[in-house]
Amino acid sequence: MNVKKEFPLLKSKVVYLDSAATAQKPKVVIDSVKSFYETSNANVHRGMYDLGEKATDLYESSRTNVANFIGAGTTEIVFVKNATEAINLVANSWGFVNVKKGDKILLTELEHHSNIVPWQLLAKCVGAKLLYVPITKDGELDKKEFSKLIKQKPKLFAVTHVSNVLGTINPVKKFIAEAHKNKVLVLVDASQSVPRTKIDVKNINCDFLVFTGHKAFGPMGVGVLYAKKDLLENMPPFLGGGSMIKQVHLQESTFADVPARFEAGTPNVAGAVGLAKAIDWLQEKGMGNIQQHEKELTKYARKKLKEEKAIKLYGSENNAGVISFNLGDMHAHDVAAVLNEENICVRAGHHCAMPLMNKLGVPATVRVSFGPYNSKDDVDKLMSAIQRAKKVFRL
Ligand code: ALA
Repeated sequence: MNVKKEFPLLKSKVVYLDSAATAQKPKVVIDSVKSFYETSNANVHRGMYDLGEKATDLYESSRTNVANFIGAGTTEIVFVKNATEAINLVANSWGFVNVKKGDKILLTELEHHSNIVPWQLLAKCVGAKLLYVPITKDGELDKKEFSKLIKQKPKLFAVTHVSNVLGTINPVKKFIAEAHKNKVLVLVDASQSVPRTKIDVKNINCDFLVFTGHKAFGPMGVGVLYAKKDLLENMPPFLGGGSMIKQVHLQESTFADVPARFEAGTPNVAGAVGLAKAIDWLQEKGMGNIQQHEKELTKYARKKLKEEKAIKLYGSENNAGVISFNLGDMHAHDVAAVLNEENICVRAGHHCAMPLMNKLGVPATVRVSFGPYNSKDDVDKLMSAIQRAKKVFRL
């Protein structure tokens, strides 16, 4: 793909290999945010003047854009600040109504802390229990164990679509079908898959799906919760305040219809506009092309990394562009520091997935993750920086 030139930041000499942490932004997205503030800035759903209506139209058409992108209905899309907030919303709103003492919630050992901690908080409060689908040595979810655990009829199965550490692509459609047979609802964390694969919520038939805008080439501070309409309509508010009410009296209030019920206070309008532009950009480039490009890069990088005896590679070839490894017995932070001297940006640490690190038996890994702007040349630069690191560490 020949898109690097569309990303202003990448005109610098950095070799950016940390798109799983946040993606770089194409100029069209940056311009759309700037243009919103320069030409359309007003609060939404309030101002009885043309500028207010313009801002509201932009905000609501951004919602429609997001809905169309993932095959949802417009009223099934709630704008939040990130995937973390979306999961907390479900845990606090749906969770407190539906999860009772003795109930179970099924998670997996691949989850990011954002898909663990909100459920721990809920479980502690109501007296529920968390169960985990274990991973195999290749970093795949153990399907036999999943089949056993789902028969215990947890109230919800919350699973990542693509692991932010190992890049593992989980067969969510199959999991969802099996969960539904057992009358279990499913939440999909699509933060790492939305920027890399085409998702259709009606096709996979998930009940909830969350993702963040900034990993999908949009601005930071905007994220999305999708929930099936009948679920969303029956959920109580999470945050209270302006915009989410019908009537407020001194002792009680009635609440707005969805999705406004879940968007208390002034929303991130510029963020939503930027995210809609990022979606236009993704669609223009083609999700299939992006997926193919990252698949090829991943295959190339894994092959090169495997050739290095000092490297321990995690995960498998079933990978959507996120690779974790360690170099000898060097701490991942030290490796990342040497790579940084060559202007190579990688993430090193526990990647907000401490239970997964424990399972892998390491405190940290070095993580390389790709975007459509990366090329084999970036992988070659990574490999020569690894050669240098080997010399520094005498490996
Ligand atoms: N969740 C992001 C990552 O995996 C920040 O790096």
